[in-house]
Amino acid sequence: MTSSEALARDLSRARDRTLRLVDFDDAELCRRYDPLMSPLVWDLAHIGQQEELWLLRGGDPDRPGILPRAVENLYDAFVHSRASRVDLPLLSPDQARTYCRTVRSGALDALDALPDEPGRSFPFAMVVSHENQHDETMLQALNLRSGPPLLPDTSRLPRGRPRLAGTSVAVPGGPFVRGVDGIAEPFSLDNERPAHVVDVPAFRIGRVPVTNAEWRQFVDDGGYGQPRWWSARGWRHRQSAGLTAPQFWAPDGQTRTRFGRVEDIPADEPVQHVSYFEAQAYAAWAGARLPTETEWEKACAWDPETTVRRRYPWGAAEPSATYANLGGEALRPAPVGAYPAGASAYGVEQMLGDVWEWTSSTLQPWPGFTPMIYQRYSQPFFGGDYRVLRGGSWAVASATLRPSFRNWDHPYRRQIFSGVRLAWDA
Ligand SMILES: [Fe+2]
Repeated sequence: MTSSEALARDLSRARDRTLRLVDFDDAELCRRYDPLMSPLVWDLAHIGQQEELWLLRGGDPDRPGILPRAVENLYDAFVHSRASRVDLPLLSPDQARTYCRTVRSGALDALDALPDEPGRSFPFAMVVSHENQHDETMLQALNLRSGPPLLPDTSRLPRGRPRLAGTSVAVPGGPFVRGVDGIAEPFSLDNERPAHVVDVPAFRIGRVPVTNAEWRQFVDDGGYGQPRWWSARGWRHRQSAGLTAPQFWAPDGQTRTRFGRVEDIPADEPVQHVSYFEAQAYAAWAGARLPTETEWEKACAWDPETTVRRRYPWGAAEPSATYANLGGEALRPAPVGAYPAGASAYGVEQMLGDVWEWTSSTLQPWPGFTPMIYQRYSQPFFGGDYRVLRGGSWAVASATLRPSFRNWDHPYRRQIFSGVRLAWDA
């Protein structure tokens, strides 16, 4: 398969998923489920607007586009807060669908005509990544929606090995190559580059993410009521937000709500919907800490035998259901131990997929950082009040995930599909 064929496939897979996430009536698409989220119809048209900008107008916002300027401006994420978008004179669902179809037809023509030169296909991969990231955002919105379920919940996941919960592996100290370059990973984003050597002291890391059963022990032990486990800022937030358990858990700790379904909390599933502040408190209670993102990446990608990075934790094979829970169909993480074939060289499991894992790191550029064509993707966020999350959740498309992929969010956010993996000094 040529790179153009693979991109056409990834564009169409992303669009199929987007359309499944907006396959509801107009009233549904125009609702605001939560002040944290846009109405789904905003995401839909914004996906088309970014695709048009990068693939049909060469990234130049001054080049005339399909939409009138005043309408296009409604989809600028830096101008309109998510909470305010429901009140904007947005395109209707029909108009948004038609707009996205028109843009896509032009984008596929442009892909067909693309000269086979290095770097020319990067904007297409960036647009695939953008659409897939918005699909995950739409899943967050749908999970916050009240009312009977909209999405089918029929996919099956492999069984776990629950005895792995609470176990850890040692990662000896020494250098490794952090980040990637445009030759090994031509579609990597700016904040993942360039590849460079860093020395990492020895540490231990959880073999699997922290489970619901483990988290319930923290709750039952009064962990949410004891300031000694929390950072000063985390404790202030816990008090003002009234946190007593992960988001979506019932107060009795026995059931949760997930995409409109109330169900027993599965003991062996990685805990989900915890903030950085909660993750940090849990780790302190457990006698551990959160990994740095550098430790996380070494445990995920480095092969100490060959002293070369692996493309994926398990090796070079493309992600599939054998290795990881990705793609968004599952609507939930898989139980711990479900993917022995997906282990990294150090034996760490479920690093890609299932839950985003909070790290202790703030978002900073790697040495030698150069912004990509979409200059506002990473740069405005460096040094801000964000913590890095790694590894992707069950909602992430495999086409856009790598061990070097960096996500970030405010330390108090938890509608995201976020969980925890512990670390310890060696
Ligand atoms: Fe966006």
